[in-house]
Amino acid sequence: MAYNKEDFIRIREEYSKKYLKAREAADTRARELYEKIPELRTLDGILAGTASRIMGAVCSDNAEERINAVRSENERLLRERAKLLTAYGYPEDYTDVHYECELCGDTGYVDTKMCTCMKKALVMAGYRSSGIYGLMQTQSFDNFSLKYYKDNEEAYATMKQSAALLKKYAESFDENTYKSFMLIGNTGLGKTHLSTAVAVKVIERGFDVHYVSACSMISDFEAKQFGGRGAADGVDTSRYYDCDLLIIDDFGTELTNQFTLSCFYDVINTRMIKRKSTIINTNLGKKEIESRYGDRITSRLFGEYRPILFFGRDIREQKIHKG
Ligand SMILES: Nc1ncnc2c1ncn2[C@@H]1O[C@H](COP(=O)(O)OP(=O)(O)OP(=O)(O)O)[C@@H](O)[C@H]1O
Ligand SMILES: [Mg+2]
Ligand SMILES: [Zn+2]
Repeated sequence: MAYNKEDFIRIREEYSKKYLKAREAADTRARELYEKIPELRTLDGILAGTASRIMGAVCSDNAEERINAVRSENERLLRERAKLLTAYGYPEDYTDVHYECELCGDTGYVDTKMCTCMKKALVMAGYRSSGIYGLMQTQSFDNFSLKYYKDNEEAYATMKQSAALLKKYAESFDENTYKSFMLIGNTGLGKTHLSTAVAVKVIERGFDVHYVSACSMISDFEAKQFGGRGAADGVDTSRYYDCDLLIIDDFGTELTNQFTLSCFYDVINTRMIKRKSTIINTNLGKKEIESRYGDRITSRLFGEYRPILFFGRDIREQKIHKG
């Protein structure tokens, strides 16, 4: 597992706050009740001494007998306490700590294992910080339909195979996965749709996914290098090199110059060296990529990335015409 570092730190802080808040709320309820029911304070005072009475009993000659006596006295006091609360119209557990998650007591861990509630929180945070949050509701494997490719047998067969391949890839993504893809094809054929679907599944499996358009990626590097947009927030480009899966959408729509070329080269090359998977979506064919990005980038892309060709008729248009 390699959840996004910042998400992880933030969520851990949220958990400590949640934990403390639950305990403070219980303390406040107890203090309130002590004002109203002074006997309760006395009872709680006695109950608080149970542990030390047990310790005392353990060290005595007739330990077993005395431990049992302390235990039964403790149970009697607890019954008395419950009765008292009921008599005043409060639930028996009114002063107990009420955690949001009873499994982990809002610590995020059960023994040394991360609790399911914290895993869920990290996945939700992953959706938000990945950049796919707006798209993920409408672009999943479940609503990826092959019917749009039906008027061409070859397109249909290829798209069926490609969708199945990407689904399998996403569903089996783990810490050893090092496989990159280039989704190549004309506009409106499902590249963004399928890569978003991959992102959702990989995030659900607990990995850090960063989804970005080529233009935004370049803006981030520009802001880091030259200041300007977002510089005040301190643009951190490390996620481009370190995230488990980087998805660069609309590769080729950005302006090309020495700076953008060196950004792409650097990200593509570093991720290769670090064996980190990447998906690049583009409308450009190999020749266009070669002439725009040069040999160093092209040979890495076509050597390391498996090309997946998208065929068919623009699905945006098909959807409009069907209403
Ligand atoms: N197989 C599909 N089933 C259902 N909806 C689809 C399918 N493929 C694409 N769509 C939908 O059609 C629209 C266009 O698809 P998408 O954005 O994935 O195209 P694209 O290949 O990324 O195009 P572009 O190159 O212009 O970015 C989106 O709304 C998407 O959800
Ligand atoms: Mg797209
Ligand atoms: Zn929990």
